[in-house]
Amino acid sequence: MKKILTLILAAAMLTGCIALASCGKTEEKVLNVYTNAGFAPYEYLDENGKVVGVDIDVVNYIGEKLGYKVIISDIDFDAILNEVAKDKFAVGAAGMSKKAERDEIALASDVYATSVQYIIAPTGTFEGEQVALADAVAYIAASGIKSIGVQKGTTGADLVGGAIEGTEAKTIEYSNAIIASQDIGSSVGAVVIDKMPAESICKDNENLQCWALDAEMESYVMYFNKDNADLVKQVNDVLKQMIADGLIDQYTVKHSS
Ligand code: ARG
Repeated sequence: MKKILTLILAAAMLTGCIALASCGKTEEKVLNVYTNAGFAPYEYLDENGKVVGVDIDVVNYIGEKLGYKVIISDIDFDAILNEVAKDKFAVGAAGMSKKAERDEIALASDVYATSVQYIIAPTGTFEGEQVALADAVAYIAASGIKSIGVQKGTTGADLVGGAIEGTEAKTIEYSNAIIASQDIGSSVGAVVIDKMPAESICKDNENLQCWALDAEMESYVMYFNKDNADLVKQVNDVLKQMIADGLIDQYTVKHSS
């Protein structure tokens, strides 16, 4: 009888420990970070296939400051906000431009960087350093290829989608701008993507050149779950400090070289 009682007691202690997730130790907090690599310098794959970049450094720093274990998932760009909406401790960190439709699904952090849309085309396609989007579209519409490559679900896709209306030009949506740019000269005449990722692609390919478009400036934010305003507040405090200390600039230089 005593033996049975001891056994029951031991079992109870064991399950108690399991229920508490760990005996004595405090449970580890996890922050699930969703990104889409192929967008250097913000997120890209290093030579070992690991996701690295400015956004990754930023979330790792925030995780360390706020006591979260950071788990990075590389998923389709247009799937990021769905994941964020499902999980209180999820964040989209993917050079995401702040925009009204996204604000309906998720909670934006403070702005940590700005950008503008660029167009990538064969070297010498346009003159000067900036091109009017309408001129670029007219050029493509009049060319043999007639299509512009964009990354699915991005602000670049929205922008080009609006500009081609009523013209003969079409868009082709790709999973990322690197893959899209490999089709320049075959399926697409040009690719539209944010400034720094465009410059990174042009730097890696001497047959391609980048031009700024006459588009509005975009502001990068991280998108959090709507039910976690507390976390966003804490993150914004860390972000403020990081910006003041020049850390984000430092990461940007580090991942652009
Ligand atoms: N800034 C653009 C947007 O928010 C493009 C972001 C693409 N990001 C990425 N990691 N692939 O729509």
